Amino acid sequence: MMDAVIDEIDGRMIRIGDHWLADFASCNYLGFDLDREIIDAVPAYLDAWGTHPSWSRLLGSPVLYEEIESKLTALLGSEDSLVLPTITHIHMSVIPLLAASGTIFLDARAHKTIYDGCQVAKSRGAAVRRFRFEDPDHLDELMRSEPDPTRLVCMDGVNSMTGNPPDLAAFAEVARRHGALLYVDDAHGFGVIGERRLGESSPYGDRGNSIVRYAGESYDNLVLVGGFSKAYSSLLAFIACSPEVKQLLKVAAPPYLYSGPSPVASLATVLTGFDVNERRGDALRADLWRKTSSVLDTLSRLGVHTPNRSGFPIIEVPLADHRDIDAVGRFLFERGIYVTLAAYPLVPKSEVGFRVQVTSANTLAEIERLNDVLGQLANAFALQPARAEQAA
Ligand SMILES: Cc1ncc(COP(=O)(O)O)c(C=O)c1O
Repeated sequence: MMDAVIDEIDGRMIRIGDHWLADFASCNYLGFDLDREIIDAVPAYLDAWGTHPSWSRLLGSPVLYEEIESKLTALLGSEDSLVLPTITHIHMSVIPLLAASGTIFLDARAHKTIYDGCQVAKSRGAAVRRFRFEDPDHLDELMRSEPDPTRLVCMDGVNSMTGNPPDLAAFAEVARRHGALLYVDDAHGFGVIGERRLGESSPYGDRGNSIVRYAGESYDNLVLVGGFSKAYSSLLAFIACSPEVKQLLKVAAPPYLYSGPSPVASLATVLTGFDVNERRGDALRADLWRKTSSVLDTLSRLGVHTPNRSGFPIIEVPLADHRDIDAVGRFLFERGIYVTLAAYPLVPKSEVGFRVQVTSANTLAEIERLNDVLGQLANAFALQPARAEQAA
């Protein structure tokens, strides 16, 4: 299940050669990639703007960018925001600018693209210290022993492997107490989790406005990075920041100055995605939560471990014996289930396994098929036994 050529799709079913599989490796959590209203909105934008504006943002941006940034800022409740093509572009350019020659405190399990951004910063004179995953006390300890007054803390929001959110309030408190800027990548949370309120449609919270709102936190001393390439199925990413940081990035961040922009179709699907999110997003998230719960319930019934404690739609299933990974991959493929395999050395041997991602576009029949195959898998292979803290 690596490097596959997908010949055709039909909803969330994919065809590889003559084999049809249910796709549980998609990050299109809200199903916007297949949403008829969003697809139908694209041609009018192409008629108005062509396929690709081609200017770097410094040279000029179609007014669509202004519309996206103002709608995004309102949705997030941040002071301001800036959009650039991808999160990777943002990490590589923004982390070095914010860190300057100061000290970065990096989550030990941060996404590779955050790590790489920190390596660029290091090559320009920053120091990098790593704190233990999910351990704000360790961050506190490191910061207490660090005299450097310029401090940046870099970490993930919803973790791309465990599916869990960090204790953002605890990390923000430590960062603020030590005068640090907290930089959070919520690629997987944006569009899926959001503000908590009475009568919310699911435990994901409402509006999909990301981890800061989900945690009831403020944007004080906090920079939020997220992307549209997962829940919004569009090639675009954002940084929610103060107007001062935005101004700095407009004169100093290479992707703003030099990179080619996102295609017009992506700007169109972001803008239409905002409308759909406002009208139907909470219903889609409630559906996503129910489908995810069904898979988590199955694992729980089977007594199988997953690190997912959140109920969010990323469900990793580690194997008891990492050497089974090839056979497990074949077993799932032959039974029509497409997942992301996590093999050693990409992950430690104790975490080798596979990751299921649920989207609201997966049908109930596909979810049932997945649950059934997970039962067969648990009979055929040794999976890790469930632990006390597991969700669902
Ligand atoms: C946590 C996280 N950050 C960043 C990225 C990369 O995002 P982009 O494709 O926008 O560069 C990913 C993609 O998988 C991710 O999971």
